[in-house]
Amino acid sequence: MARTRVVIDTDPGVDDAIAILVALASPELDVVALTTVAGNVDLERTTRNARRLVELSGRSDVVVAAGCAAPLAGVAVHASEVHGNDGLGDLEWDEPSVPLAKEHAVEVLRSLIEEEPLTIVAIGPLTNLALLLELYPDVERRVERVVIMGGASFEGNVTPAAEFNIWFDPEAAERVFAAAWPITLMPLDLTHQAMFNDADLAYLRELGSDVGRRCAAMLEPYAAHHDQWYGQRDIIMHDATAVYELIEPGAITTQAVSVTVETGGQYSRGATWINRRRSQVDGRVRVGLSLDNELFVARLRERLATYPTP
Ligand code: RIB
Ligand code: CA
Repeated sequence: MARTRVVIDTDPGVDDAIAILVALASPELDVVALTTVAGNVDLERTTRNARRLVELSGRSDVVVAAGCAAPLAGVAVHASEVHGNDGLGDLEWDEPSVPLAKEHAVEVLRSLIEEEPLTIVAIGPLTNLALLLELYPDVERRVERVVIMGGASFEGNVTPAAEFNIWFDPEAAERVFAAAWPITLMPLDLTHQAMFNDADLAYLRELGSDVGRRCAAMLEPYAAHHDQWYGQRDIIMHDATAVYELIEPGAITTQAVSVTVETGGQYSRGATWINRRRSQVDGRVRVGLSLDNELFVARLRERLATYPTP
């Protein structure tokens, strides 16, 4: 089987953690690096969390490189009320021994792009990708594909207009969507169909592995947050949909669209205007429309179950 060579650009983040652990356990993917960005929590914590997750997975071959600490414009506003103060549900962790690359994430991305075909899975704010395009514009023709979790066509989750990853850095998102590289976008319209529930948390706990126990423990406060925000404990697995798109090609129905990012707007800054009119799309961007949650959950359970029990 031809494996897809992947870098995950991420702001872990509880849902990032599940996405990363699923990706690292998926034979379809060759995850060569995690590049971190400020988002759910600050860069120091998203980077420590990426190192924690690589260590937990046992995949010490995966490079971790830190990227941008602040959005291109404006100030960083984090979401620790959603993901916990440390970004992973505030569990007890040993200090990770996984090393941090000396190079900036953008330099690591550029080197990896130059070597061989690369797919970028972007599940945090798009600041690193925008800086990459700024410094090395040729990458837009060399990157195989960019799969992004972000945006919404119906309602945001930070404001009624804007989803967090886009809202955190709209200028970066605008630059990323203007580039020539092929993008598949997983907006809230899709991710709200992808849910874990208490039975899935029980399943993870009963796996008997460190990964299973820690995933269940990270997801518990995240479920409580969902209960508080949405009135039910079902957990929206936003970031895992971007990984699912790569490990189950075709499982997510998609449609060619064009996407415009609002950077102005008193009430709409960070909105993604998704245009579905056939006469106005150029085929470069596709948006995820629907998935079967039973199949989604079964695949994530199956991959998380492959981690060893002590
Ligand atoms: O809106 C959901 C997205 O914002 C997810 O990537 C979550 O981790 C946060 O980064
Ligand atoms: Ca994220």
